[in-house]
Amino acid sequence: MRLGTPLSPTAVKVMLLGSGELGKEVAIELQRLGCEVIAVDRYANAPAMQVAHRSHVIAMTDAAALRALVEAERPHLIVPEIEAIATDELEAIEAAGLATVIPTARAAQLTMNREGIRRLAAEELGLPTSAYAFASSEAELAAGAEAVGFPCFVKPVMSSSGKGQSYVKSPDGIAAAWRYALESGRVEQARVIVEGRVDFDFEITQLTVRSLKDGAIVTGFCEPIGHRQVKGDYVESWQPQAMSPVGLKAARDIAAKVTDALGGQGLFGVELFVKGDEVWFSEVSPRPHDTGLVTLVTQYQSEFAIHARAILGLPVEVALREPGASAVIYGGLEAGGIAFEGVAEALAVPGADLRLFGKPESFARRRMGVALARGADVGEARARATEAAGKVRPTKA
Ligand SMILES: Nc1ncnc2c1ncn2[C@@H]1O[C@H](COP(=O)(O)OP(=O)(O)O)[C@@H](O)[C@H]1O
Ligand SMILES: [Mg+2]
Repeated sequence: MRLGTPLSPTAVKVMLLGSGELGKEVAIELQRLGCEVIAVDRYANAPAMQVAHRSHVIAMTDAAALRALVEAERPHLIVPEIEAIATDELEAIEAAGLATVIPTARAAQLTMNREGIRRLAAEELGLPTSAYAFASSEAELAAGAEAVGFPCFVKPVMSSSGKGQSYVKSPDGIAAAWRYALESGRVEQARVIVEGRVDFDFEITQLTVRSLKDGAIVTGFCEPIGHRQVKGDYVESWQPQAMSPVGLKAARDIAAKVTDALGGQGLFGVELFVKGDEVWFSEVSPRPHDTGLVTLVTQYQSEFAIHARAILGLPVEVALREPGASAVIYGGLEAGGIAFEGVAEALAVPGADLRLFGKPESFARRRMGVALARGADVGEARARATEAAGKVRPTKA
């Protein structure tokens, strides 16, 4: 793909479907390479829209609206940033040769539904995963939970960021978990996965990139990212996460298999559970991963720069520069147009940096920014990132 000049006939046009904080960083990297960036989301003034050439507000789950927008804009590349998209329509757009979907329409399709990706990973590729069952009623859930054993996790098959997810310790918790999954699932589809708990030492994101080298696809691996989740949402991440050589090899073998199967070009976040030398596949994002925000301070090329280069057919560099960490800044309050106190204090923490996403609306548990920090080692970086995040105080205008 030959790069050109935005807003001219040589422009390489990239449409982001989803314009959150991850899309914003991808948009900035594409802008740096002179791409024409079109940001799309279901609400106005989303983060990536603020750094794009143009933006559109549509329901991305509406196939007709999505098709009409793609026909009007004629992007070369369509880059999904979220899962809740009319992926059947993406398949049709790709099949018609209208645009290239990153990494592929099938990857977007399989990963938007926990059933698609789990069956591919466990049943087709034979990768180790937690024990699991699917259920479309409370009775099926009860039976599935008995089969996988307690404690277990119950998750709507269409959901992300821990939404609708329950940790169930005994059969008494099944009814509430079923109700909660139905209330919080993304679609009114009554289907959940129940997974036996994997008793891991730690969990990682193995960022894995499929890029072009001398005309062929090569797979590259970033250093593992460790992270801590609270209620299914990431609160802190760091890189590198130390692993045994055997565990690291197992992680990369799994990551290579699943990303080969999904295909296309771009960066993937492969989520893995690790206990000693043993590794289990959990899930995969066919796009930059929230825990990978840490790479903004740890790598020569962040996961966003890598994604931008890989989708454009350009070489990438995955090397770590220095240890670092990220800590999430939540809104903590419900209001529009919030202000931030304590920014100067946060940036005075040695080695600290900050991203404030510019989201128009704050919710208590909405991610509004992230503190980043480098350090001599991961321990120092984590302490600094957490300290910096704690100094930023979202407040009402
Ligand atoms: N089977 C499991 N065993 C142990 N922990 C789990 C399991 N499933 C989920 N978790 C925990 O919950 C987090 C969120 O689950 P995940 O499946 O990644 O959902 P989401 O798609 O919302 O990120 C995981 O990162 C992990 O900390
Ligand atoms: Mg996850």
